[in-house]
Amino acid sequence: MIQAFDLVKDFGPIRAVDRVGFEVNKGDILGFLGPNGAGKSTTMKMVTGFLSPTSGRAEIGGVNVQENPREAKRRIGYLPESGPLYQEMTVFEFLRFIAEIRGLRGGKAREALDRVSHLCHLHAVRNQPIETLSKGFRQRVGMAQAVLHDPPCLILDEPTDGLDPNQKQDVRRLIASMADEKAIILSTHILEEVEAMCNRVIIISGGRILVDETPRSLIRRHPQYGAVQMQVLDNEHGSARETLLRLDGVHDVEARDEHWLVLPDRGIDDLKPRLWEAARREKWRLISMHDAPLKLEDVFRNLTRPDGESAEERSPPGARNKGSAAPA
Ligand SMILES: Nc1ncnc2c1ncn2[C@@H]1O[C@H](COP(=O)(O)OP(=O)(O)OP(=O)(O)O)[C@@H](O)[C@H]1O
Ligand SMILES: [Mg+2]
Repeated sequence: MIQAFDLVKDFGPIRAVDRVGFEVNKGDILGFLGPNGAGKSTTMKMVTGFLSPTSGRAEIGGVNVQENPREAKRRIGYLPESGPLYQEMTVFEFLRFIAEIRGLRGGKAREALDRVSHLCHLHAVRNQPIETLSKGFRQRVGMAQAVLHDPPCLILDEPTDGLDPNQKQDVRRLIASMADEKAIILSTHILEEVEAMCNRVIIISGGRILVDETPRSLIRRHPQYGAVQMQVLDNEHGSARETLLRLDGVHDVEARDEHWLVLPDRGIDDLKPRLWEAARREKWRLISMHDAPLKLEDVFRNLTRPDGESAEERSPPGARNKGSAAPA
């Protein structure tokens, strides 16, 4: 439903977006991640027809956004980064105005207004001028105008920015509830949001797409993917680490607070049975053993750190030397 083909945007000498392409279909929630200035908002503005690309094109349901912007915009709900809200209008005046622009009249407009004010919890502030609303409520008004005409495509630039934790949860639920029926792109700096909501992630940095995959496969890029945390009461010789290092499939063993972090060789899917077996054989008292908790944030940081050096380049799991790391 949403397609971008080789989108490029230059601002003078700055290339803000560099040959970005993707496709989002009904049922997809695509998370757009990237550091500040990566080109997320600029890409979204081109896809929604608010900015014309230097080259490349965007299509919404097969309609070329640049050639046929009115037709394309009918199919899009867009929450811009800083809502172009008419500050002096009240919430309902503004939404009525938007309904009219989108061709909704009479009963249809009233129905749409009721629906979005309920969805976005706006009833209590309906007669308040937008300029007097708190940031979170202004964000809700932005969300309400985006979904007012029930469009098949939603493009939401940081939809939960500035919301309190309850509201964040509400907006996530709202987005998830629409997912089956729509193609959705959202940008965010909150990585748990991507893990919780998105079935696809694009990480963009310096205007270029670095990855386009599922959150689940993204976590596989974590330098500690497959690592196991185990806590054992060592035998009297204190040789647990050496024993672990000698095990088949174990790449390295690092000391972490009270436990060992056992890193697998590349391609080892589940290390735990081997560790169980070693603990039994060595008569260790095993206190705990579980997959090491990994953060998508680490993957993001490795991929987008300013020096451009990825963690994989730094220390590929397959290149670690057994026994090289001294316990902390
Ligand atoms: N109108 C403009 N004129 C000149 N440069 C611009 C303009 N709009 C954006 N840029 C530049 O394009 C680059 C990408 O900006 P963009 O707003 O798309 O980033 P972003 O990924 O949305 O960042 P953030 O996470 O901070 O919202 C930045 O270097 C920005 O300064
Ligand atoms: Mg932005």
